Amino acid sequence: MASDARAAEDGGAPPPRPVADGFLRFLIPAPKPRPAAPTTAPARLVPPHRLVAPPPAAPALLRPEERLHIVPPTRPDWLPPPPPRQPPAPPLRSPSPWVRPRPFPPAFGEPRTRNAGRFAGQVNGARGRSPASVAHSSGGGRSGSQKPKAAAAHKEKKAWVAVEKKGEDAGDDDRAAVSEGYSCGDETGTEAEDQLEPEGEQDTGGHRRGLDREDDAKNSLDMAANQECSGGGGERPSELVCQSNQATHSRGRMGRSQVECRPDIDTFTPGLLALYESLKPSEEHKSKQKQLVDSLAKSVSKEWPNAQLHLYGSCANSFGTSHSDVDVCLEMEIGTASTVEVLLRLADVLRADNFDNVEAITSARVPIVKMSDSGSGFSCDICINNLFAVANTKLLKDYAQIDQRLLQLAFLVKHWAKLRGVNETYRGTLSSYAYVLMCINFLQLREPKILPCLQAMEQTYTMNVDGTECAYFDEVHQLQYFGAENKESIAELLWAFFHFWAFHHDYRRDVISVRTGSTISKQEKNWTTRVGNDRHLMCIEDPFETGHDLGRVVDRQTIRILREEFERAAAVLQYNDDPCVALFEPYDYEN
Ligand code: CTP
Ligand code: MG
Repeated sequence: MASDARAAEDGGAPPPRPVADGFLRFLIPAPKPRPAAPTTAPARLVPPHRLVAPPPAAPALLRPEERLHIVPPTRPDWLPPPPPRQPPAPPLRSPSPWVRPRPFPPAFGEPRTRNAGRFAGQVNGARGRSPASVAHSSGGGRSGSQKPKAAAAHKEKKAWVAVEKKGEDAGDDDRAAVSEGYSCGDETGTEAEDQLEPEGEQDTGGHRRGLDREDDAKNSLDMAANQECSGGGGERPSELVCQSNQATHSRGRMGRSQVECRPDIDTFTPGLLALYESLKPSEEHKSKQKQLVDSLAKSVSKEWPNAQLHLYGSCANSFGTSHSDVDVCLEMEIGTASTVEVLLRLADVLRADNFDNVEAITSARVPIVKMSDSGSGFSCDICINNLFAVANTKLLKDYAQIDQRLLQLAFLVKHWAKLRGVNETYRGTLSSYAYVLMCINFLQLREPKILPCLQAMEQTYTMNVDGTECAYFDEVHQLQYFGAENKESIAELLWAFFHFWAFHHDYRRDVISVRTGSTISKQEKNWTTRVGNDRHLMCIEDPFETGHDLGRVVDRQTIRILREEFERAAAVLQYNDDPCVALFEPYDYEN
């Protein structure tokens, strides 16, 4: 759980993988001597991830300094030479058509902090500003470096009128923002404040050819203006009304939603696939992970001999990259003890066995013990009796076997999200698990479909978790050719994924649902208002715990950030000369 909150860990191992060329230089293993292999022979795991017997000989461990280095990307060798740049060549980060413009400098008195970054606004900005300054701010610092010219042009197109101020006064709102942080603190915001407002016009989902780049840039700016009219993806439905720009705005969003993919998109498929291959964990990496789990199992079995150990998350669902952590669930009888008490005891046991950085996190929705292994550099989250996670791990693993484009898409999206800083649940963005569900649902919705809906098919597998039946069709070997009719390449799908989340998804009305293989309405889920910390601004239904919205962590600021990032990614893939480089450019928090 929450592995996304940690810095990417890596177990890339000597000998180094051949990644010296092109943009794959993102990932260059540091050459380090191989440490001695451990002498103990701990127990081992066999499918389906149960602790049953002693392990095979353990391979060498990586030292922490052997993690992969991220180096600045360069143009891939396989790309043709770039054509001469056409003026105006939009830089990636500011006055580009795909970055929401910040039309005005910060409001008077608004703090400008170094490294304010996109999240700083939660404390400094949007929530506590007057309606006017909310209207004029892009929020979060992501687009804070707009050129004044673009700002002025944008300003002319808008007329903002504050018509109502709901809920607390600005001062209260500020306090709410501060108390909220990005965790589970008590919040004082109102339900109404956290709902998305109706958009002037919904996307039709239809595609048409013919928008040239200039039109598209204009449309994007219009759309940005419109989104600010509509609260930038969700804020203050009745506070602000943009009078003059509604029609332009709707046209803009429509225009963007109707853009077709660039005709040469497939030329980027080889590069994206090479990146995907480089992200896959090596065999050595996997065996080191297993070694960590074996040591853990040994420690646990001393205290709880009947405990069963399950791997879950990306180390067991096939979506694990070379940066993924290890997620472990202990299934055990805890009698009258609470989960928290058992976790605190577990933390003591692990400390006594010299695991590093052991920490019990007991206030989370799913309490865990976190620890790391300094030998391998891996980190590990351990939870107790969270069998929903074990069930959804199997579901994801089964989906992954149906069409290889799911793994490819999800690896690239996860990699993008980590580098762009939008895979941090503690800051209000999305978990890796949520991104994988988004990918599955996206492929379920393609025409022709690339993935089926396993939970809507005959139930060949069932697991009862706390009275909930987790059932679906798991004979996926029968579905090998399910998506064969759809010939879309990974480059096309990646673009379409970002474009879908930037321009097609109806954030106001829809919940994505892998369970139904479609989208369902917020109304149907009763996710129309904020309840406690669950804002339901961006809704992703958990396939088995159907009352759980994986987008619950997304707030008014981070939904804006996410949408900006989806827009940026779609535009980079659409227009950039070097999309494979620019797409994965690490987000620069300093500027
Ligand atoms: N999980 C869950 N409910 C959540 C978040 C996570 O059930 N709200 C479970 C899922 O089984 C998921 C696992 O916890 O697969 C790990 O979640 P996460 O760390 O987000 O995903 P990973 O796939 O492990 O991603 P990473 O490679 O980044 O570690
Ligand atoms: Mg994980």
